Amino acid sequence: MAREQTRYVCQQCGAVHAKWIGKCEDCGGWNTIVEETVQKVPRGLGGAKGRLAFVDLKGESADAPRRCSGIAEFDRVCGGGLVPGSALLVGGDPGIGKSTLLLQIAASLATGGGLDCAYVSGEESIDQVRLRAHRLGVRGAPVRLAAATSIRDIAGALDRADAPHFVVVDSIQTMYLDQLDSAPGTVGQVRATAQELIRLAKLRGFTLMLVGHVTKDGLIAGPRVLEHMVDTVLYFEGERGHEFRILRAVKNRFGPTDEIGVFEMTDAGLAEVPNPSALFLGERQNPSSGAAVFAGVEGTRPMLVEIQALVAPSTFGTPRRAVVGWDGNRLAMVLAVLEARCGVEFGARDIYLNVAGGLRISEPAADLAVAAALLSALTFEPVAPGAVVFGEIGLSGEVRRVGQADARLKEAAKLGFTSALVPPARGGADPGLEIHAIRHVKDLVARFGDSAPAPPRRAGGRP
Ligand code: TYD
Ligand code: MG
Repeated sequence: MAREQTRYVCQQCGAVHAKWIGKCEDCGGWNTIVEETVQKVPRGLGGAKGRLAFVDLKGESADAPRRCSGIAEFDRVCGGGLVPGSALLVGGDPGIGKSTLLLQIAASLATGGGLDCAYVSGEESIDQVRLRAHRLGVRGAPVRLAAATSIRDIAGALDRADAPHFVVVDSIQTMYLDQLDSAPGTVGQVRATAQELIRLAKLRGFTLMLVGHVTKDGLIAGPRVLEHMVDTVLYFEGERGHEFRILRAVKNRFGPTDEIGVFEMTDAGLAEVPNPSALFLGERQNPSSGAAVFAGVEGTRPMLVEIQALVAPSTFGTPRRAVVGWDGNRLAMVLAVLEARCGVEFGARDIYLNVAGGLRISEPAADLAVAAALLSALTFEPVAPGAVVFGEIGLSGEVRRVGQADARLKEAAKLGFTSALVPPARGGADPGLEIHAIRHVKDLVARFGDSAPAPPRRAGGRP
């Protein structure tokens, strides 16, 4: 006989606790524990024997056939199209365009690919989705539409021989299973509903696309197990105030994870941006002094950002050091190294440093890009055109290698950059960029040779 039992589950990490506590002991999250009722299954298998047959690795399995949506930026991120029977999870901030993207993909698969597509909305009414379809100009696409949140209803419609080929569930946090007492969006519900949908996708061979909300920290809300359960995890991101959106694979069982797809949000939905470097470099004034492109990594995701510096004569006795998006202490360190090890004098000038696009960088790998931007601002010479910069600067002026150099270079090459000012690599794959090895900050200073920076400071220092 199954017994009911109460347990306390952290909504952030999925850890189970015996009693309610204010702070999760596993992940340290505050106020994340929620009470859930579980059906306790009796231990032991009750004597019934299961059946399992092992097979050889070398057996014949057909290559996973791909279904292409015709939206090239999306197909590439998925590793060359959608695999039948697979589950994908798309995460992103509210209003970034997840529903728009998925409706466009469904419509494209239905019209161009002739596939049977279904769109289940748990967040919006039928009318709202229709209105969006009208705006996107895809009202004529033969997409089956439903507004539902009960997995019992949804499974009933999908668990049949003529199941659709492609199913969108928007979003997993609104779905619920009536066997569970907890509210939609809780760990228990998210896990159970996703499991049921994924089981159906494998059984009936349709491609399942789940939309997932993200938390304040930008991670897909709910248990990390959700990311383990699906085959592919995509993040849809963009800057506030900018039209461009980036679709990024952070996990893909059927393709590479360092591909990005770039879109632009227009009045009629998302438009593909086949040449993203043009978009990113479009705002850059070329050749401009005081700017360096840093090839950074956010979590596991490579990301290029422009670091801007301005060096201006100071009107006050104490020069200003204003930093936006980076650590002021690290700026002080980079300045000290440039002054002490290379004799570059910034002393009596105001210095402003800005990370373009409102991003905050915490990586030490940005040191070299900051140094390049500062030197460029000081000498009015642009950093080598088409170059990205990264590397950590040590106190003696040596430039250290940083993690994921290959991913950074690959991203830079993808976005149209042609060279890189980086610490010498240990070898490895050809990144497709011209590498200028910077062993010491002096190597960087020497690149700004023509209009030489101010002479070394005299002994005794500033007055
Ligand atoms: P939406 O797909 O609803 O975002 P999400 O599902 O991620 O929450 O996108 C909503 C935003 O996109 C909204 O701010 C309006 C904008 N938008 C356009 O600019 N053009 C369009 O054609 C559409 C459909 C939406
Ligand atoms: Mg939405």
